[in-house]
Amino acid sequence: MSAGRVASPGGDGYAQAMPDLGIELGPLALRNPVLSASGTYGHGLEMRQFTPPERLGGLVSKTVTPRPRPGNPAPRICETEAGLINSIGLENKGIDAYVRDVLPAMAAADTVVVTNIGGETPEEFALLAERLDAEAAVDALEVNLSCPNVDGGRLPFATDPAVAAHVITLVRRATKKPIFAKLSPNVGNIAAIARAVEGAGADGITAVNTLLGMSVDWRTGRPGVATVQGGYSGPAIKPVALRCAWECARSVSIPVVGCGGIASADDALEFLVAGCTAVQIGTACFADPALPGRIVQELEARLAAAGVERVRDLIGTIRDGRPESGARPRGHLERAAH
Ligand SMILES: Cc1cc2nc3c(=O)[nH]c(=O)nc-3n(C[C@H](O)[C@H](O)[C@H](O)COP(=O)(O)O)c2cc1C
Repeated sequence: MSAGRVASPGGDGYAQAMPDLGIELGPLALRNPVLSASGTYGHGLEMRQFTPPERLGGLVSKTVTPRPRPGNPAPRICETEAGLINSIGLENKGIDAYVRDVLPAMAAADTVVVTNIGGETPEEFALLAERLDAEAAVDALEVNLSCPNVDGGRLPFATDPAVAAHVITLVRRATKKPIFAKLSPNVGNIAAIARAVEGAGADGITAVNTLLGMSVDWRTGRPGVATVQGGYSGPAIKPVALRCAWECARSVSIPVVGCGGIASADDALEFLVAGCTAVQIGTACFADPALPGRIVQELEARLAAAGVERVRDLIGTIRDGRPESGARPRGHLERAAH
């Protein structure tokens, strides 16, 4: 990626360097910190007429499972005041169809390809990881720990540090590719889960998946989704997701990818300042499929206006009472804001 030149905002004839959006996500180098969120952007390819995939730092696939899954009964999606409730039930065509039909197209997009995997047992996650380890087109795996653990009373793997760590341990043994553990916000102590997956060998953490929610029409008595409970996402969950991502980032030393309610460059920057190295854009893409590309553009504009040369300089600069880490450009930003 080349650092371009832009006219200075003051129009004084001097050119200033375009901010550098490049980041390092563990072992991966991304051209910018904006990725698609699993399941909300197709596999990233359906959206190419709105946002060329190469504008993004990376594409994350829908969750891929060992066998095809038909998903849950309809209705599976319902809009609420400030978000969405979904109960898709991980509908997908299974790993064979993914590798055959989807992966080549994802690989053709000039960006980082992350395959999100889901299993009903820890061993199923490991099988998927082993299978994908052989696929050069896959740059990293995202492990969807919100899947129900069939051997463990159908509670999500993400709700117990030991169980989450066991999944990551088996995935770690099965692949040399970078692995990102995608955590659930529906837990009492997300920091404990984050530390457990880091200890088990995760290269990074995605925080977070959907919150549990429900809606009901009081006139008909009908719930918004057929399963009654579903996954709540969109703008309403941003403060919860931000808190979870911040807790993870301050508890581990592997990179954290923030996800939940992000709908603008300012939202994305909040997650970076809170300690995230990158972000994923999910539900907001339903309202505006061109949004991820625009967020990248807006990030450049925001940073240029604030005089920040490299987006990575903002990561973790929150003033949360912890000792300052040194090169924190806060004074500079405050001047830019006034
Ligand atoms: C319709 C829909 C489908 C989703 N499917 C998946 C999925 O297959 N795997 C997964 O890990 N997360 C899935 N998610 C969760 C998102 O990737 C994301 O973690 C969550 O929605 C919070 O981000 P957001 O508020 O930006 O959407 C899905 C979310 C929605 C709304």
